[in-house]
Amino acid sequence: MALTVQFHDMYTTPAKTSLCDEILTGFSADRKFVSPKFFYDQRGSELFDQICAQPEYYPTRTEELILADAADDIADIAGEDATLIELGSGASRKVRLLLEAMRPSSYLGIDISREFLLESTRRLAADYPWLEVHAAYADFSCNMALPEGLCCERPVGFFPGSSIGNFDPQAAEDFLRGLHSLLPIGSGLLIGVDLLKDKATLEAAYNDAAGVTAAFNLNLLDRLREELNTEIDPEHFAHQAFFNEAQSCIEMHLVSRLPQVVTIEGERFRFLEGETIHTENSYKYTVEGFQALAERAGFKARAYWTDAKDLFSVHYMERT
Ligand code: AVJ
Repeated sequence: MALTVQFHDMYTTPAKTSLCDEILTGFSADRKFVSPKFFYDQRGSELFDQICAQPEYYPTRTEELILADAADDIADIAGEDATLIELGSGASRKVRLLLEAMRPSSYLGIDISREFLLESTRRLAADYPWLEVHAAYADFSCNMALPEGLCCERPVGFFPGSSIGNFDPQAAEDFLRGLHSLLPIGSGLLIGVDLLKDKATLEAAYNDAAGVTAAFNLNLLDRLREELNTEIDPEHFAHQAFFNEAQSCIEMHLVSRLPQVVTIEGERFRFLEGETIHTENSYKYTVEGFQALAERAGFKARAYWTDAKDLFSVHYMERT
C-alpha cells in the first residue's frame, strides 16, 4: 500500500541557471528562439491543461479515446507488473486510462514542472493505492537517467501527447536513441504521435477561438519577468501559429508588435517590428514515416492504433 510518492530531484544544474543560460543563448541567435520546454511553469502547465480541453485542440481527446479503446491490447503486449515510466507526465491523467488494464507494479512520472508533478502524482497515489508511485523532477531533454531505487524490471516508456513532435526529426531520432540506451532489450515504448492532416485543422488547433494557446505562448514572457531580471512587455508581442508544409510542422512564434529593445539579465536585445521569437515546433508524421524514424533508433513497431478519422496515432514499440 503506497499512499505516498517517492520523490527524486534529478536536476543536474539548478533549474534557474539553465533557464537563464538557455534564454540568453536563444535571444542572441540570428533568429531568436526559446525551447518549448520553458512553457511549463506552474501557470504554463495549467494553461496547457486548458488547451487540451479546447474544441479545436483534437490531439488530447483523440489520444485518450485511442488509449481507452486499446488499453486491453496494450496490456496484453506489455504484460503484467511492468514499470511504467512517463516522460512529461503533467497532470498524469492519460496514464489512468491504462492502469486498471495493465496493472503495472510501479509508475514513474518525470516532469519539468515541480509543484505540478508533485500534486499530480500525489493524487495518482491516493487513487491507486496498489501502485508504487515515483516522481522525478528532471529535464529529460538534457538528462536522461532513471532514479536510483526504482525497480526497473519490465520497463515500459510512456511518451504520450505527441511531445516527440517538439523535436525536429533528426533530434527525435537522437532522443529515441537515448531512450534505447537507457532501456534494456525487450522494453516497451508506448508513444503518441500526431498525424499529418489538412492545414486548416492543424492551424485551428493552435489558434483556438478562446485564445488559450495565445495565452500559453505569451505566458512564456510573464515567466521570464518573474524568474529573471528582465524588462520585457508581453503586450508588445503577439501570438502566431502556422503550418509549415515543407517541414510538416506547426511553428509557434511571438511576434514583436513594434521596434523595441528588451533587456534580460543586463543584456540588451533589439527587435524589429514583425521580428519573432520562435517558441515551438510541433512536427506531424505519417504512421510509416514515424515507424521508419523509430526503427532507425532501434525500436521495432509491434502495434499501432489510430482513431476513425486518422487524426492521431499511438504506437507500441519494442526496444531491439
Ligand atoms: C505538448 C508539444 C504535444 O505540440 O501540440 C499545444 C504543445 N503547443 N498547443 C503540441 C502545444 C501549443 C503540444 N505538445
